Amino acid sequence: MAKELDLDWANLKFGYLPTDYNVRCYFRDGKWGEIEVSSSDTINMHMAATCLHYGQEAFEGLKAYRCKDGHIRVFRPEENAARLQSTCRGILMPELPTEKFVEMVKKVVLLNERFVPPYESGATLYVRPLLIGTSAQVGVHPATEYLFIIFVTPVGPYFKGGFATNNYVIARDHDRSAPLGTGIYKVGGNYAASLQANKWAHDQGYACEFYLDAKEKKYIDECGAANFFGIKNNTYVTPLSTSILPSITNKSLMQLAEDLGMKVERRQIPEEELETFEEAGACGTAAVISPIGEIDDPVMNKKYVIAKDGKPGPISEKLYKKLKAIQYGEEPDTHNWITIVK
Ligand code: PLP
Ligand code: COI
Repeated sequence: MAKELDLDWANLKFGYLPTDYNVRCYFRDGKWGEIEVSSSDTINMHMAATCLHYGQEAFEGLKAYRCKDGHIRVFRPEENAARLQSTCRGILMPELPTEKFVEMVKKVVLLNERFVPPYESGATLYVRPLLIGTSAQVGVHPATEYLFIIFVTPVGPYFKGGFATNNYVIARDHDRSAPLGTGIYKVGGNYAASLQANKWAHDQGYACEFYLDAKEKKYIDECGAANFFGIKNNTYVTPLSTSILPSITNKSLMQLAEDLGMKVERRQIPEEELETFEEAGACGTAAVISPIGEIDDPVMNKKYVIAKDGKPGPISEKLYKKLKAIQYGEEPDTHNWITIVK
C-alpha cells in the first residue's frame, strides 16, 4: 500500500515536485520498444544527442483530475497524441502511435495515484510527455534514436488567484515564432524564444506577454503559453494564424460555445478589435480559462481595458464552469472527451 501523502495541496505552485515513477519508451532500429517504468528522474544521454544541439525536442501537456465520484479522469489525451504526431512530422521525429501514448498516460497516472490532488483542492496532476532525439549527430540531421518519456507532477494554478482577471502586455519587440516556422508545433525552441518577452512582461508586473503576428505586427497571435479568445455579440472569436499552437482547450471551448448557442469565428483579429470585445480570455491546459482584464501596448501608447469592472465576464465564467464540469465528470461527456483512468 502506497504511503499517504502530506502535501499542502491548496498551496501548490505550478512547479516540479518529484513523484514515484515515470514511463519511458525507446525508438531504436526503426521501431518503438516496450513501455518501461522508471523511478529515476534523470536520464543518461550522449552529449551529441540531437535534442541538445538541434532542438529535436517535443513536449505535450495535459492533466488528470480526481473527481467527486472517486474516478480519475484525463481530458482528450488522443488530441495530445495527435498534436505530438504533428510536431513529429514538423521536426522529423518518428510518430508515436496514439494507443501507445494513451496507454502510457493511463499507466503513469495510475502508478502515481497518490500524487493526484484531492477533489476541490484547486490542484491537479499535470502530465508532461516529452520526446527527444537521443543519438549522436554533428551534422544538422535528425537522430536515428529517440526517447519518449511521460512524467507527472502535482500542480496548483498557472496564474495566481485562479479564475480572476489578469493583465497582459504586447511584446512588439519579440516574436515567439515565424509565420512559416515552428509555432504550430510544441517544440522547446518556441519556449526558449519566449523567455525574454516573458521576463520583460513579468518584470513590469504583467501576468504574461502577448504576441502579435510576427510578419505584420497587426493581428493577435497568442497570450504567452495560451491561446486567445474574445467574446462579443454572442460570438466566440479566436485567431486563425500559422504561428500559434493549436490549443486543445481552445478547440474544446469552440465546441462548448457552439453548444451554448453562440457563433464561433476563427479568423485574423486586428489588434484594434480588442476595443470591441465584451470579454476576453487566455486558454490552455495550464491556464484553463484565464480571463483578461486589460492588454497594454506600451510601444504604441495604447491600452485596451476589456473587463471594465476588473471581473471575469459571464460568458467566460459559463464556459469555464462547463469545461470543468466535463473534466470532473459532473456533466455528461457528450463529445467523448474523457478517458477514465480509474
Ligand atoms: N499556446 C501555447 C504556446 C502553449 O504552450 C499552450 C499549452 O499547451 C497552449 C497554447 C494551450 O494549448 P492546450 O489547450 O492544448 O494546452
Ligand atoms: C500547457 O498548458 O500545458 C503548457 O504547455 C503551458 C506550459 C508551457 C507550462
